[in-house]
Amino acid sequence: MKIQSIRGVKDILPGEIEKWQWVEKIARNVFHKYGFKEIRLPIFEKTQLFSRSIGEATDIVEKEMYTFTDRSGEQITLRPEGTASVVRAYIEHKMYNPPSVVKVYYLGPMFRYERPQAGRFRQFYQIGIEAMGTDNPVIDAEVMTLLVEFFRQLGLKDVELQINSLGCVDCRPKYREVLKTAIQGHLDELCENCNQRYERNPLRVLDCKVERDRQIAKDLPKTCDHLCETCKTNFTQVQTLLDSTETPYSLSPLLVRGLDYYSRTTFEVVSTGLGAQNAICGGGRYDSLVEEFEGPSTPCFGFALGMERLISVIPFEGKNYSESRPDIFIVSLGDEAKSRSFKLAHQLRKEGFTVDQDYDGGSMKSQMRKANKSLSRFALIVGENEIAAGIYLMKDMEAGSQEEVPAENFIPTLKDRLTTPKNNT
Ligand code: HAM
Repeated sequence: MKIQSIRGVKDILPGEIEKWQWVEKIARNVFHKYGFKEIRLPIFEKTQLFSRSIGEATDIVEKEMYTFTDRSGEQITLRPEGTASVVRAYIEHKMYNPPSVVKVYYLGPMFRYERPQAGRFRQFYQIGIEAMGTDNPVIDAEVMTLLVEFFRQLGLKDVELQINSLGCVDCRPKYREVLKTAIQGHLDELCENCNQRYERNPLRVLDCKVERDRQIAKDLPKTCDHLCETCKTNFTQVQTLLDSTETPYSLSPLLVRGLDYYSRTTFEVVSTGLGAQNAICGGGRYDSLVEEFEGPSTPCFGFALGMERLISVIPFEGKNYSESRPDIFIVSLGDEAKSRSFKLAHQLRKEGFTVDQDYDGGSMKSQMRKANKSLSRFALIVGENEIAAGIYLMKDMEAGSQEEVPAENFIPTLKDRLTTPKNNT
């Protein structure tokens, strides 16, 4: 019986995974520089955590969650995102004590039952950041600056940071009513979906992807024109701070995000190199979520980026992203050489070298082909004659040159050859 992977789910194989590891390493470096520490979260949670935080009237909760009843009758959901779990953990572990800004990052798989297409999967990976405990606009700007710095280090081009403000508990309800009234005049022109959700979630009409709706949305009232004085000042401060670090951004009045917990600053990073699924990253401020789950008042700001989409737009050509290259590949010819090379590989690894070897005992030619394929820096040839003479043959796989090395001197010689700049060898 042939069993294949589930639709919208994919394996990340050796050869590809090195790119992921490289991105993750840079992410950790950048995040640590800004004071963020890793948090590891469960992959499943109680369903209510997601339905209440993301919002009952969102696509994620209405149509996309992987929900099941476990053997004890509990409703469980495979996490569609990480923010809700961070909020739950923050409250559960009283991370607000002592009071300070808690800065965490996470990475791992998320699950959404969406229609699979290029850049859209049912299991996908996110890297996310959450800064919890301040409403100071400095954190909004700092987190977005961090993101731009991360993208710079990855060599990303053709990405655009788009920002908007969704207002707060004071001004948003008033804006919602203004928007609903304006939408009512267009209901017969808007798509089925917008007609259904405009009562419960009118803001989503603004980012409907149907072309005719997009044209209508352009002329609907915008959040940024209906902000209260405090939100207006706050949004201006965010922009001034971004300007002060010369962080490029554009204002995107139709950006409303697909999750309900946002207030004030929201943002997305889009890539012109991607098709319809062009959002690499999305996030923003969520100031009341912790309180909604009975935690103390804790304004927060964060984002998550989609790894598959990110990886697909990084220019990897000419980048040295793979660390899985062996220092040496042992080629052994004959039975005695085989057992010698097993012990030698063990010794070399204990000395800190990365070692691979042949296991099948083929011809010299076929073993050298394997050495080549392993991208090993050196090949070590161990044959009956070499053993008898107390030497090994060491081949530099890049230069193509070969030298005889006395067996007892072999480890210091290899160390020397690996550390000496290539043009001196
Ligand atoms: P989100 O916009 O739903 O936000 O997802 C963030 C990113 O995850 C998207 O920009 C996209 O790159 C990626 N993504 C989402 N769905 C898929 C999919 N089906 N296939 C591939 N990639 C996908 C959140 O998840 C929020 N929790 C972000 C956040 C953190 N806000 C505050 N803190």
